[in-house]
Amino acid sequence: MTHWSAPPPIIAPSMLKCDYGDMLREVEQLDAAQAAWFHWDVMDGHFVPNLSYGAMVIQAIRPRTKAFFDAHLMISDPAKYLDGYLKAGCDAITFHIEAVPEPTVLLQRIRAAGRKAGLAINPKTPVSAIEPYLNDCDLVLTMSVEPGFGGQKFMPEVLDKVRRLKQLVGPQTLLSIDGGIAADTIAQSAAAGCQVFVAGSAIFDEPNYTAARQNLARLAGAASR
Ligand code: DX5
Ligand code: ZN
Repeated sequence: MTHWSAPPPIIAPSMLKCDYGDMLREVEQLDAAQAAWFHWDVMDGHFVPNLSYGAMVIQAIRPRTKAFFDAHLMISDPAKYLDGYLKAGCDAITFHIEAVPEPTVLLQRIRAAGRKAGLAINPKTPVSAIEPYLNDCDLVLTMSVEPGFGGQKFMPEVLDKVRRLKQLVGPQTLLSIDGGIAADTIAQSAAAGCQVFVAGSAIFDEPNYTAARQNLARLAGAASR
């Protein structure tokens, strides 16, 4: 089993849902809650119909925490912007197969820079689209909502893909799930084989991040296989 920074189950708060008016306080609260990973949702208004933040914001927050930075690039041309995310200090960089149908070179660039390389698949994209590239991946992210916005409803049908991925990848590859993860959806995701759980609303809409993270981790741990 891979331990990059913390043993699974890993709860990765989605910074898309943080208070942008007081990011340093959010970072402090996440550190206090022992969130080992921060998940950074980068959106370009083109690959997805929403715009968030880019490498400059991530780079500015980098010195403020020791957390593992998990960048999720929902952008049309990740190759063009990769160097910025490497320079920003992202520890893992995940991009979409729908944006880069031939991902081998980009995955290898990420690994050559000493970072973890990830591929993401949208709800309607089959596992067969990424199967040829799994050996070049350290992480596979299954979207359980259409990417673009936080606070959407979990799509349980994607768990069939997670079960398939679990058969295909070795223990060194982490399976991550993103979208609608909360107390009522995390156990089934863990049972399907996920080890990393991206959570926006289920952390940031809660009054106590520590209690929210611990509860999610407990539910995932109890259901993990
Ligand atoms: C969606 C993003 C998610 C999202 C998660 O495009 O990739 O990370 O912010 O938010 P919740 O947990 O609220 O669905
Ligand atoms: Zn995400």
